[in-house]
Amino acid sequence: MADTPSLPFYESSAMLAVGGPTLRPGGLELTKRALSLCALPADARVADIGCGVGATVDHLRRHHRLRAVGLDRSAGMLGRARQRNPGLPLLKGDAACLPFEDGCLSAVLCECILTLVADIDAAWREIHRVLKPGGILVLTDIYARAPHQATGLTALPEASCLRGARSSDEIVGRMQRSGFTLLAWEDHSEALKRLAAELVLACGSLQSLWGTTDDPASATACPTAVRQARLGYFLSVARKEGIP
Ligand SMILES: C[S@@+](CC[C@H](N)C(=O)[O-])C[C@H]1O[C@@H](n2cnc3c(N)ncnc32)[C@H](O)[C@@H]1O
Repeated sequence: MADTPSLPFYESSAMLAVGGPTLRPGGLELTKRALSLCALPADARVADIGCGVGATVDHLRRHHRLRAVGLDRSAGMLGRARQRNPGLPLLKGDAACLPFEDGCLSAVLCECILTLVADIDAAWREIHRVLKPGGILVLTDIYARAPHQATGLTALPEASCLRGARSSDEIVGRMQRSGFTLLAWEDHSEALKRLAAELVLACGSLQSLWGTTDDPASATACPTAVRQARLGYFLSVARKEGIP
């Protein structure tokens, strides 16, 4: 059955087929790399915000003995996650209004979700609120490596994962203004290229990734905008300021 046109890319059959249980560049290898930079103690309470089908939550619980919970705004994603793993602790909710008490989490992971969040200020406030002082924030996401040429990204559809790509300066600046200290920033753009290549081989084009329709104007403008912005992928680890 064909996907409905309004379906976000990460819920499309193309992405589910290519990405497997992780719906983003880098997969669980990138999660493992992030965890190696954090040294979280076993039993720490952790939330994966925008958990998709729950692969990271499962990994954190099974292989790191963390008390991990997943949260996602999509009922469809949570349904798939529960089908894959019925015992996983999962919550329906929005990054901009987290259902956790103040200072109760040792770490928050946001793997390829912040570019999708409409109220980004609220999401940063909420992540800061629910973390303990000294708590860890792991972010992986798409970013614009040529931000002065990224204005054309606004031509992409609202639901496109690429539309919200920001520069590293803007992301780190926002992190610092929100009360975090940057511990690590790594470029993993090769992972984005690999995912793009796999999508081309599986689907014949990147149209599903751009989120474009068959409209000729959008079919020309979107690839140009994406090329000019020189999109890449990053991993960052930050610590909430304050004494644990
Ligand atoms: C690209 S997928 C990544 C999923 C997962 N983190 C992974 O690595 O496979 C983005 C996910 O973020 C969720 N999402 C987007 N905006 C959200 C929001 N404001 N609050 C909670 N979840 C959100 C989507 O429903 C989707 O499951």
